[in-house]
Amino acid sequence: MPKLTIVTRSGQETTIDAQAGLSVMEAIRDAGFDELLALCGGCCSCATCHVHVDAAWTDVVGGPDADESDLLESSDHRTAASRLSCQIEVTDKLDGLKVAIAPED
Ligand code: FES
Repeated sequence: MPKLTIVTRSGQETTIDAQAGLSVMEAIRDAGFDELLALCGGCCSCATCHVHVDAAWTDVVGGPDADESDLLESSDHRTAASRLSCQIEVTDKLDGLKVAIAPED
């Protein structure tokens, strides 16, 4: 099972098991991180699942599509590493992925 490292807003790092096929958002939420609100439940309409992908992983994860990119524009905390975690599917190739929960807008 792929492992993900999650960095909270306070900087605490935790490694979790993530089932392949779930979204990164679902894996984070299921692991009990309540600061990732994910209000729309993963349908790419709220941007409250915003994460910053670690620099070592941005090429592997890839960038947002046009709809996701439009939604990310609403965030004051968008960076080149920004993704909506509900739009990243957990796969074996993401084993070791590290993401930081973005500051709240
Ligand atoms: S959970 Fe709403 S956009 Fe990701």
